[in-house]
Amino acid sequence: MMLLLAAVLTGCGSGILFAPGTGESGIGEDAGAAEAPAPDHHTITVGFSQLGAESDWRSANTQSMLEAFDTDGYTLLYQNGQQKQSNQSTAIRTFIQQEVDYIVLAPSTEDGWETVLGEAREAGIPVILVDRRVNTADKNLYSCWVGSDFELEGRKMAAWIKAYTESKGIAPEDLHIVNIQGNIGSTAQIGRTRGLANAARDNGWDLMAEVSGDFTENRGREVMAALLKRFDNINVVYCENDNMAIGAIDAIESVGRTAGPNIQNGEIMVVSFDGVNKTALDYARQGKISCIAECNPLHGPRVRALIEVLKIGETPEKFNYVDEMLFSSVPGVDAIVVDDKTYKVEREY
Ligand code: AHR
Repeated sequence: MMLLLAAVLTGCGSGILFAPGTGESGIGEDAGAAEAPAPDHHTITVGFSQLGAESDWRSANTQSMLEAFDTDGYTLLYQNGQQKQSNQSTAIRTFIQQEVDYIVLAPSTEDGWETVLGEAREAGIPVILVDRRVNTADKNLYSCWVGSDFELEGRKMAAWIKAYTESKGIAPEDLHIVNIQGNIGSTAQIGRTRGLANAARDNGWDLMAEVSGDFTENRGREVMAALLKRFDNINVVYCENDNMAIGAIDAIESVGRTAGPNIQNGEIMVVSFDGVNKTALDYARQGKISCIAECNPLHGPRVRALIEVLKIGETPEKFNYVDEMLFSSVPGVDAIVVDDKTYKVEREY
């Protein structure tokens, strides 16, 4: 985890082109789908359509991409879609006009990519998906994907909730859970929501509400405040990322409640995903966040490795999953099992 933070904090240098008027740092700024400079054909030119800057995870992911391609032989054209699929489609069309060698797409949501990815294929430009996926009938509209198994993350979290609450002798029907979801239709939301919903059904937990907080701290705060007004018996908050968890904890504390694992004594247990944001990690050490399922954002070198394979005319694996861990400073659960595989619960992060 420290390594990850160190990588997030490292700056980036030359070799990366930003669209005019988008600001030098690129991350988190107004970087819409404006026209970018013409690529230099002496290098491999990669057009990267990032979906936005909604979370610390996203900033770390963008930084990882910028750093991975800040090297001889590559030019990266970066576009921030600002959470809008239409901006991402425009960025892809711009990359096609610029005749880039590869397009890397971090899609906001899964549906609606057939047309623009068809245009990339017509132009003969390979598309590499990173982080989330697209839902297209024709899987040949993209070369390959690298990212997380989001449903597994959700299942691991559900297994931790089950193991922990059983260790405390809490009956399944006494778990009153709300899910603050990511942006609806994104692979991360779909997988994590499914992981919890299936476990709630199988274990007889009371899953009271599923409401989107769009993966942002502000929406997490707003959604949690509204849920606390709507229900007086919430004792578990499943936040689909750390930024929303920070907002939710703020809302919990604002009404005089305590975020913590001791739900038999009236605390509200918060669990979340990512493990990138420093405050979230501090909260996890303090027990305000009881468990974090890691979501690894450092895909830049992985994407570059896939491009290296494509460059020499070989075919990489279609779907490339990264291994991820589970973190909790709450005593009681040392390991969980999902699909016969044992995952250690990490204490140091
Ligand atoms: O797709 C990955 C998710 O997107 C991360 O968990 C979240 O923080 C981000 O916004």
